[in-house]
Amino acid sequence: MTVYRASACAKIILCGEHAVVYGRPAIAVPVPDVRSHATFTPVPRGHLHVFLDDLGEAWTWQENSPHPLAVVIRHTFAALGTSPLAGELHLHSDIPIGGGLGSSASVATAVVRVLARALDVDLSPARVAAIVYEGERIWHGTPSGIDNTVIAYEQPIWFVKGTPPRPIRVGRSLTLVIGDSGIRAATREVVGDVRRRWQEERETYEAYFDHIAHLVRQARTALEIGDIPTLGRLLDENQYWLERIGVSAPELERLIRAAREAGAWGAKLAGAGRGGNMIALVPSARVDAVVQALRSAGAVHTYRTTIPGEETAQ
Ligand code: PMV
Repeated sequence: MTVYRASACAKIILCGEHAVVYGRPAIAVPVPDVRSHATFTPVPRGHLHVFLDDLGEAWTWQENSPHPLAVVIRHTFAALGTSPLAGELHLHSDIPIGGGLGSSASVATAVVRVLARALDVDLSPARVAAIVYEGERIWHGTPSGIDNTVIAYEQPIWFVKGTPPRPIRVGRSLTLVIGDSGIRAATREVVGDVRRRWQEERETYEAYFDHIAHLVRQARTALEIGDIPTLGRLLDENQYWLERIGVSAPELERLIRAAREAGAWGAKLAGAGRGGNMIALVPSARVDAVVQALRSAGAVHTYRTTIPGEETAQ
């Protein structure tokens, strides 16, 4: 019996969240060490049984099911030009749900990849991202598409809604420490609140988004030339605007402060906010100190990840 396996990374938004919903650029990076896994064991006929192992949930796939993952599976079969496959599909993820690390997009990406692999079809990252977006729309309302894109490409990207993503050069490796506040906030609700405030105070919010767009452009240059201290300062600046927008939280701010005091170049919330994760850009020598400081300040999980820069390719 053949067993097919595929996985997909987590992601984190380096800068530009929320403003990206309003057409401004954002930068997102993969977190390759934290992943979702899909295992598919086909059988010649019958149904497709889906097991969400972490949630203890199991269902039989049906063409008309509204479950976001069922919709992703339907779009995958359509893209692969195949009639539905039968077998057992097991899904497992190391990514906490609702924490801004892209758990839904990551699981869905692993699903698309494992089904494509079973049929020996190579789907491009752009096609995988487009299929996964169909599930993201159901999960999150009107997502910008940044999660499914960075996860499908698994490289740092410059993202503007509605335009093809552009991979970003990273001049010098950078280490990020991610701290989970343990608070769960639904992206859909936070994005909805921002939209209501934008409708009420359009000029103010447009100005916030413009400030963020400006710093995201500077962050791109800093990333490309490997100016890590400047990038850190820009993350701090981004946090300032996210607080003004109203998507921060005292628990996140406590972690951000702790990371800065322990020697981070800069720190900010990452993703929708109100809870979820924060990121700190940290000199290698300070990683352990920052991890410790985050734990003492209440982080329920910490992750560290290094984004390789051009110097590692030489
Ligand atoms: O919480 P996350 O990582 O899923 O990110 C949400 C990012 C937003 O910019 C707030 C929304 C979006 O669709 O881009």
